[in-house]
Amino acid sequence: MTASDGAGSAAGSRDRPPTLDDPVAIAGMRLRNRLYRAPLLECAGTGDDAVGRLTDDDAVAAGERLADAGFDAVVPVRTSVFWDMSVVRGEFPTSAWRDPELRDGFRAAFESLPRAAAVAVGNWVESLAYGREPGWNRDLCRRVRNRIDAPVLCEGGLRERSQLDDALARDAGLVGVARPVYSEPELPTRLLGERVDPGVRAVCADCNNCAVAQAAGESGVCRTPSVLRTAGELRRHGAYDRPDAAESSDGDDP
Ligand SMILES: Cc1cc2nc3c(=O)[nH]c(=O)nc-3n(C[C@H](O)[C@H](O)[C@H](O)COP(=O)(O)O)c2cc1C
Ligand code: SF4
Repeated sequence: MTASDGAGSAAGSRDRPPTLDDPVAIAGMRLRNRLYRAPLLECAGTGDDAVGRLTDDDAVAAGERLADAGFDAVVPVRTSVFWDMSVVRGEFPTSAWRDPELRDGFRAAFESLPRAAAVAVGNWVESLAYGREPGWNRDLCRRVRNRIDAPVLCEGGLRERSQLDDALARDAGLVGVARPVYSEPELPTRLLGERVDPGVRAVCADCNNCAVAQAAGESGVCRTPSVLRTAGELRRHGAYDRPDAAESSDGDDP
């Protein structure tokens, strides 16, 4: 479930957004539809009920409907229906967009290189426009959690153990991290557990080289050497070793 902003900026608590009767909003959306091939807004029509974006209030109402319908859990996120950076946020992925090995994939994904270049420019603008405070969906998750019994999962920019603990205490019954698992597949070993320091954090730099590469058909892996080097150092120092595994294997010895 999402608070979705077809016009490009993150949906926040605010007045009812303009309807699709707004000609400037329609022109902007049509341009983005043409670039990103997002048919949803073309289908939305211009009836009295059609809106240019959904608010947090809409997301809370959607959460209630999903819970009433029997969904096991909901994940409230602020995003857009376009292929853009609203759901991940972070830095503009310069090296991925410039990687010659990804060029054919971008051409295929966006139908031509000029179109891919236009998406990259949009990507760059969005990297400046979207806020990226840790846990940017937390307040929305809290609002939904306060209205439904089904578990709410919060994700989006959570990197540090203290942030996870705080989000669990105040905003959601479950928390998730996405990109950091590309750079540290065994991150839970380092981040979870009762005796983990609150300052322990994922090494992911939110550079998005992994995210944009997946649009080009590549698999989901961290593509930033400096970050992978840091993870390698941590591995050499045993950061991903499971102390309990060592203890139990000691106990198993005949
Ligand atoms: C490559 C990639 C693909 C994603 N695909 C989806 C998706 O299909 N549906 C979805 O709801 N979120 C998707 N997400 C968003 C993540 O679930 C998550 O909300 C987002 O990455 C923010 O969390 P993070 O800061 O921990 O990465 C995707 C993220 C990445 C990086
Ligand atoms: S490429 Fe690596 S450092 Fe960059 S966002 Fe992805 S996982 Fe994080």
